[in-house]
Amino acid sequence: MKIDAVTIFPDYFAPLQLSLLGKAAQSGLVEFGIHDLRAYATNVHNQVDDTPYGGGAGMVMMPEVWGCVLDPLMKDESDLIILTPAGKRFDQPMASKFSQSSHLIFACGRYEGIDDRVRQHYLAKGHRVHEVSIGDYVLGGGEVASLVMIEAITRLIPGVLGNPESLAEESHNQEGYLEYPNFTKPQNWRDISVPEILLSGNHAEIAKWRAAQAIERAKNNL
Ligand code: ADE
Repeated sequence: MKIDAVTIFPDYFAPLQLSLLGKAAQSGLVEFGIHDLRAYATNVHNQVDDTPYGGGAGMVMMPEVWGCVLDPLMKDESDLIILTPAGKRFDQPMASKFSQSSHLIFACGRYEGIDDRVRQHYLAKGHRVHEVSIGDYVLGGGEVASLVMIEAITRLIPGVLGNPESLAEESHNQEGYLEYPNFTKPQNWRDISVPEILLSGNHAEIAKWRAAQAIERAKNNL
């Protein structure tokens, strides 16, 4: 999978070199391209934003510079993802869908977002364009939201996770349940013991206990 991100803060994407994502890139399963929007600015001050038509607070990112970066990146197979708190809420099924794509482009807006004509233009050209939010809160920009999405999506690509069983177990748990609590050594820590059932070796009973715990947890988080 090819993943491009367009941003005025390329340094935000340094974590892509770490851990699972770094390994996925090294092994060639994923290829990252980070593009500095400001490098495409055409005016003397490298300006990428301006005041909104119609008035109001804040600044809006100008369409011209976005067009310059996106035109050469956009292919028939590309999914353009525009990060905005007003977008469709990102969740596990959406991560799963995007993990099937061969090319994702993350457009990281700052300020009051990107001039809407950028979205309109690529939609009109027949491209797949998605406005996505990672949750009901407002971030300073789309960079952190992109990182969240990239991590959730790439770990679903076959070969990225060291232990594919983790994925199998997760998808089994996807029907609205959260995961059960986990324990490891030592058996007793600060007077708290690991639940007896987990030491029993009775796999059927352990599975039942875990399912009940997961449901309990989900209820408590409602
Ligand atoms: N940009 C600002 N807030 C955001 C959010 N919650 N999700 C995605 N992009 C954003």
